[in-house]
Amino acid sequence: MRILITGGAGFIGSLIAQAYLDRGDHVVIVDSLVTGTASQVPDGATLIEQDIRDPDLVRTVTEHGPFDVISHHAALKDVRKALLDPRADADVNILGMINVLRAAAEGGAGRLVFASSAAVYGDAKVFPTPEDVECIPISPYGISKMTGELYGRYFALNRSLPVIALRYGTVYGTFTPEASEAGVITIFTRRLLSGDVPVIYGDGLQTRDFVNVEDIVRANILVGDAPMHAPWAVYNVSTGVETNVNDLAGTLISLSGANCSPRYEGAKAGEVRRNLQDASRLREAVGWAPEIQIGQGLSAVVEATRHGSRG
Ligand SMILES: NC(=O)c1ccc[n+]([C@@H]2O[C@H](COP(=O)([O-])OP(=O)(O)OC[C@H]3O[C@@H](n4cnc5c(N)ncnc54)[C@H](O)[C@@H]3O)[C@@H](O)[C@H]2O)c1
Repeated sequence: MRILITGGAGFIGSLIAQAYLDRGDHVVIVDSLVTGTASQVPDGATLIEQDIRDPDLVRTVTEHGPFDVISHHAALKDVRKALLDPRADADVNILGMINVLRAAAEGGAGRLVFASSAAVYGDAKVFPTPEDVECIPISPYGISKMTGELYGRYFALNRSLPVIALRYGTVYGTFTPEASEAGVITIFTRRLLSGDVPVIYGDGLQTRDFVNVEDIVRANILVGDAPMHAPWAVYNVSTGVETNVNDLAGTLISLSGANCSPRYEGAKAGEVRRNLQDASRLREAVGWAPEIQIGQGLSAVVEATRHGSRG
């Protein structure tokens, strides 16, 4: 297969690229390297340094295609920076998304897989949250991901481009590049192993559905391969296990062998209180289920960070 991955020099996109390469597919990566790095691009993939907002993107897609799958992972993903500068977030995550959809449709891509987020739910009322609840995002990042989904649906229904949106929980793994806005698990682990205490914003009772990046990669490959029965589909990619930040910090303190307590600071705006998603739709569609439990995943992160390896 021929695969184009936007954001393939970043945390998740580079691991998806590696998985496609491992099975012999042809991989092209478009990345502006704003947070990703060229060293993160796996051997065997072609890196094109280009911004997804570039009007010439359609030429890149046409010249290097046609692609069976365009995996759209390029985005600004820092919820806190988006609060301070919603326009920068919208510029990449909405206008960039439209440009990728346009290039994919004009370049005759077989399908587009969009990295969406649990942030589209805002403060959901139903847990575990299924895909068909009303989405009222409470942050600029959640709004831009929701808008990206609506444009994806529009292109799927009107421009003959099949689109699948994957709403990830909070993704973690044994290796998050330094420049990538690391998630809470990586940040806590790095602090603990360098002798600092973890900082918790708010009371620590906020929860997340932490999903290992290896399970995210598998979900991407499955939805990229499976027959599509409708031009548009949206799936949660999550574990159905809810972990609060206090418990997370406690587990990481004990795994790292530190002797400390977290420090508490004021809660951050725009962060949802609970996240726990129901991934049964994805299981029914393609047989996906998470394979890495949170305890096992956290041990691997601590060990890999301790040894400075990718685990
Ligand atoms: N990490 C998570 O917990 C999580 C959760 C839900 C959704 N997502 C989504 O998954 C995707 C990948 O996230 P990640 O954690 O790998 O982030 P990341 O920051 O490591 O990777 C994003 C990549 O996109 C590139 N990029 C950013 N703006 C660009 C632009 N204008 N043009 C071209 N390239 C650009 C960056 O250089 C980087 O390589 C994002 O769309 C993110 O919103 C991530």
